[in-house]
Amino acid sequence: MGVAGQVRIVEVGPRDGLQNESAIVPTATKVELVDRLSATGLQAIEATSFVSPKWVPQLADAAEVYAGIARRPGVRYPVLVPNLQGYERARAAGVDEVAVFTAASDAFNRRNTNAGIEESLQRFAPVFERAQADGVRVRGYVSTVLGCPYQGEVPLAEVVRVARALHAMGCYEVSLGDTIGVGTPGAARAMLRAVAAEVPLSALAVHFHDTYGQALANVLACLEDGVAVVDAAVSGTGGCPYARGASGNLATEDLVYMLHGMGIATGVDLDALVETGNWLAGVLGRDTGSKVARAWTAR
Ligand code: HMG
Ligand code: MG
Repeated sequence: MGVAGQVRIVEVGPRDGLQNESAIVPTATKVELVDRLSATGLQAIEATSFVSPKWVPQLADAAEVYAGIARRPGVRYPVLVPNLQGYERARAAGVDEVAVFTAASDAFNRRNTNAGIEESLQRFAPVFERAQADGVRVRGYVSTVLGCPYQGEVPLAEVVRVARALHAMGCYEVSLGDTIGVGTPGAARAMLRAVAAEVPLSALAVHFHDTYGQALANVLACLEDGVAVVDAAVSGTGGCPYARGASGNLATEDLVYMLHGMGIATGVDLDALVETGNWLAGVLGRDTGSKVARAWTAR
């Protein structure tokens, strides 16, 4: 399988990035982040999350954020929903694409959503039903595909089973998440191959956290196997508050630099992206988590 000539990036910074921040980020800043990102040429931006505000207080302002975004034609703004209640809140806010999430590890899924894998799939059934009737696209996430902070090893067969279930229920795309960033390229490739034997490769995306510095290498391994959709978060923000040891996502700046260097089109303006990531790091009061942004800024 050859490497794709074009990769679609799903920017998850406003959701995965901000959900892990303990100091509450003002709503206006979140809106500005999404709008700055859409101006860089990114075509899919996960804008926020309609989860329980008791579980993730940072994103309690999801409806306000969504209402504040200046929607750019051609850009998709999916949001995370954990259940029908989240779906209804999202729809009331005008959302037209959602993402559901479960895991390949029961132990992790219980910490993250207070439900086992099967129960979480059952929770999604009415979401899919409503989404289909409403013409809403549903993306799906499988977390802990390369390891779990509570259970340790995660059997490949479980990753395959859960990914297949989400696809069969109606997800147009399933994103395979290394939630705690422990995977290495051989494991990432083997995982992808196992899933791709059951779910069409064109319906798969990869989502790597960079805890051990392996995210870009893992992406490359999966690109070589034909994946053409990659999640990333500007400035390398991110992590799941219910995944012990999880740190930032692969930085979008690092991903774009690598892809462009390989002659793979993304539609993203790296200058504008670096500027946005540096601005976000400043807002969060820390250095950027992107090596490319540091080098690009200093050059
Ligand atoms: P629960 O406590 O079992 O829910 O949480 P419940 O149904 O018993 O409801 C309890 C209360 O929450 C009720 O309120 C509900 O109304 C309310 P009360 O009666 O006590 O006042 N509630 C809600 N409120 C607003 N919006 C909702 C909602 N649902 C219930 N949607 C639940 C279950 C799933 C809701 C909770 O565990 C939750 O929200 N978890 C989300 C945790 C989270 O956001 N984790 C991070 C995202 S996943 C991730 O980062 C991984 C990913 O990036 C991929 C990767 O890296 O692998 C995607
Ligand atoms: Mg994540």
